[in-house]
Amino acid sequence: MTEHQTLRAPARRQLGTPTDLSSDATRDVAAGLNRLLADTFALYLKTKNFHWHLSGAHFRDWHLMLDDHGAQLIAMTDPLAERVRKLGETTIRSISDITARQSLLDNTADYVDPMDMLAELLSDNRQLLSEMRRVHGICDDVADIASTSLIENWIDETETRSWFLYELGRGATLR
Ligand SMILES: [Fe+2]
Repeated sequence: MTEHQTLRAPARRQLGTPTDLSSDATRDVAAGLNRLLADTFALYLKTKNFHWHLSGAHFRDWHLMLDDHGAQLIAMTDPLAERVRKLGETTIRSISDITARQSLLDNTADYVDPMDMLAELLSDNRQLLSEMRRVHGICDDVADIASTSLIENWIDETETRSWFLYELGRGATLR
């Protein structure tokens, strides 16, 4: 069942916020934004997981950096969900809903080497970046300027996180 099909009947009547965008447009944009939202929650929790379970020589710096990254990611979630609602569509309701929609993989390992943490977060942030560019294209095609504008800022933040993760990983290797 697609996200849009779950909106039918009573939910559509009660939650269908009026918008000047077509129903095809809001369906496609909402599907993209909801996928981004699920991946943002997944990456937020992985970032905090690594923040909590970090060890080793770089503990203080990396622990603090991952807290900053987590704060950026969680700050994306409310605007993402509310964009979907402003378009008259529905959004994520539960942890199981996130699990069903996320494309990023969880990491539930007992122990992760700190260098592997950086590499995995870099890879995930790059995947999120690629998904943001794809959803930006969907929003742009239907002139959903508010969504493209939000995504543009999040792309810049994601590039910043990726830059830091890359440089820290490289620096630790070069030492
Ligand atoms: Fe903390």
